[in-house]
Amino acid sequence: NKVVLAYSGGLDTSIILKWLKQVYDCEVVTFTADLGQGEELEPARKRAEMMGITEIYIEDLREEFVRDFVFPMFRANALYEGVYLLGTSIARPLIAKRLVEIAEATGADAVAHGATGKGNDQVRFELSAYALNPGIRVIAPWREWDLQSRTKLIEFAEQNQIPVPKDKRGEAPFSVDANLLHTSSEGKVLEDPAIEAPDYVYQRTVDPVDAPDTPETITIGFEKGDAVSVNGETLSPASLLTRLNELGGRHGIGRLDLVENRFVGMKSRGIYETPGGTILLAAHRGIESITLDRGAAHLKDEIMPRYAELIYNGLWYSPEREMLQALIDKSQEFVAGEVTLKLYKGSANVVGRSSPYSLYSEDLVTFEEGTGTYDHHDAEGFIKLNGLRLKTYGARKLRLARG
Ligand code: ARG
Ligand code: SIN
Repeated sequence: NKVVLAYSGGLDTSIILKWLKQVYDCEVVTFTADLGQGEELEPARKRAEMMGITEIYIEDLREEFVRDFVFPMFRANALYEGVYLLGTSIARPLIAKRLVEIAEATGADAVAHGATGKGNDQVRFELSAYALNPGIRVIAPWREWDLQSRTKLIEFAEQNQIPVPKDKRGEAPFSVDANLLHTSSEGKVLEDPAIEAPDYVYQRTVDPVDAPDTPETITIGFEKGDAVSVNGETLSPASLLTRLNELGGRHGIGRLDLVENRFVGMKSRGIYETPGGTILLAAHRGIESITLDRGAAHLKDEIMPRYAELIYNGLWYSPEREMLQALIDKSQEFVAGEVTLKLYKGSANVVGRSSPYSLYSEDLVTFEEGTGTYDHHDAEGFIKLNGLRLKTYGARKLRLARG
């Protein structure tokens, strides 16, 4: 009867905190993490103290988040349904990991989260928690209580001396999840996919129309598939992503309006802003283009949708994700060097790449006279043999057409 709660310090998780104490008559430990959401954490501590909590965990997990979750995922160039950079999906396994570890450290037998019963996040939190501690109990108040309407929530808060900020009295205009990789907005004013999202939804990128009229050229350095520097300056994983977010945000890069398929079955519409991640994906593909062999590159591209879907569905701590990760990591051994990109009004385009391990050979590819290893005459037999079955197939087509 001790529960570790993933606590943001906001109204909803404060209500959950109180509700847990009432309904489960348990001690509550709060866990609040800085994943780069851009909010102060001290108010969460104050609030937890005010609500009588004595075991309060507040942690800066930004480096761990980028180094052990975001970067490994970017080695795969992971995109869900072709476009979503998985900014929320990749944060859940880390939060779940800390919840479970804190439960062990404080002698708690359960963890609790504030995800609703309709979304992906409940699945991600819970599958991760069970994989890391098979005996853990998970409490998901949104699936249990009868506070389904805003009015009921506010009523509960007022009956329990939980201060309700003025702007939280009415319906929230939409739900936001943010971290160093992205900001995601869903629900309410965004629910009709036919209607364009209002401009105030966007929080970390300018409208590309208002972005600078002159392009900005940047260089990103890579080692073993991970970005390590920007414009020659070596940066830690979290500072590097922070830097790319500033650059991308200023140039209106990484906005996405998407209707996606949730794991639990329904379609949902979301607005995503992933400025740094969008630059990073383009740059990583750029450095891979000269350092990966074709066979390796194409195999990676084949497994990528599968890998992305595993992360989306909450299967980070599954054997199949670990297997794919081993394969992806192996491919990154020589993915090192520098990529130059131009940032301009919403786009990040690779304009140059170089590597000490480059497989690119100007001598081989040149239209001018090369020095010899490639013999044009070899191509004749190569095409003839590849054409053999097509000739056979084409001949039958003609025969049938003529009757
Ligand atoms: N649909 C996204 C995902 O499943 C984001 C979910 C959380 N976002 C939010 N605004 N509550 O990864
Ligand atoms: C939620 O349901 O808590 C957010 C949306 C999602 O998890 O998909």
